[in-house]
Amino acid sequence: MKIVVIGGTGLIGSKLVKKLREHGHEAVAASPNTGVNSVTGEGLADALKDASVVVDVTNSPSWEDAAVLKFFETSTRNLLANEAAAGVGHHVALSVVGTERLLKSGFFRAKLAQENLIKASSIPYTIVRATQFFEFVKSIGDFSTVGDKVRLPSALIQPMAADDVASAMVRIVTSSPVNGAVEIGGPEQFGLDELVRLDLAVRQDPREVITDPHAGYYGIEVSERALVPDESARLSEARFEDWLNQSTKQAPKSAPA
Ligand SMILES: NC(=O)c1ccc[n+]([C@@H]2O[C@H](COP(=O)([O-])OP(=O)(O)OC[C@H]3O[C@@H](n4cnc5c(N)ncnc54)[C@H](OP(=O)(O)O)[C@@H]3O)[C@@H](O)[C@H]2O)c1
Repeated sequence: MKIVVIGGTGLIGSKLVKKLREHGHEAVAASPNTGVNSVTGEGLADALKDASVVVDVTNSPSWEDAAVLKFFETSTRNLLANEAAAGVGHHVALSVVGTERLLKSGFFRAKLAQENLIKASSIPYTIVRATQFFEFVKSIGDFSTVGDKVRLPSALIQPMAADDVASAMVRIVTSSPVNGAVEIGGPEQFGLDELVRLDLAVRQDPREVITDPHAGYYGIEVSERALVPDESARLSEARFEDWLNQSTKQAPKSAPA
């Protein structure tokens, strides 16, 4: 089965392409780095020739409100139009758990616009909503830092390893379209403040995390359960602290942002 992974050079995309190939599929990594651009349309028709499935794991180079909306709208429209022309039978896109609860953020408005375009199209689809990746926790801390203090609320988060996101996507990509959304998440819940405190401690980063109910998640106020998946979500196994200990053994210590 030929599976084209748009964004196949990114964090999730590169893991997904590798795993699909290990399962014996013809997986094509498509991105500007490989001559395929879903925003300009460059290389798209050629890449999609004879494809059964297209997976969209792109991300916008800019998260500024107007830019990120333009990216996901233009890219998704181009993908769906090219997929219709090529006779693709399954469009799979990676989105985020809680998107509809996070619409004060331009990024999440853009992800919802992406989801809505997919739902309105004629291509059979599966939207995969994942919780935050373990790899993303450091960015949450960095974004919330002023000087040597990190302010975060104790709202819950249920992160998962990027590797487990890719494994879950292999199953979904090689199954029939559900024409709806499925949720995936990690095995444990943490307070956002607690999670970043753990992350900084293991990285031996001296920044102090202050619990502040009014501090946002990436700039927006979040309710207690806005980031956690429904009970029906499929949960992965890798635990944050095991992953953190393993990955900090391999990487040099980080400096405060
Ligand atoms: N971060 C989280 O915790 C989280 C949680 C749930 C869901 N998600 C979603 O997961 C998705 C993938 O995230 P990621 O962290 O794997 O992204 P990433 O590492 O930033 O990779 C982004 C990919 O998009 C490609 N890309 C950028 N512009 C493109 C264009 N015009 N045409 C085609 N490809 C383009 C990049 O290609 P180049 O390498 O060529 O630039 C790269 O392969 C995102 O949509 C995000 O919303 C993220």
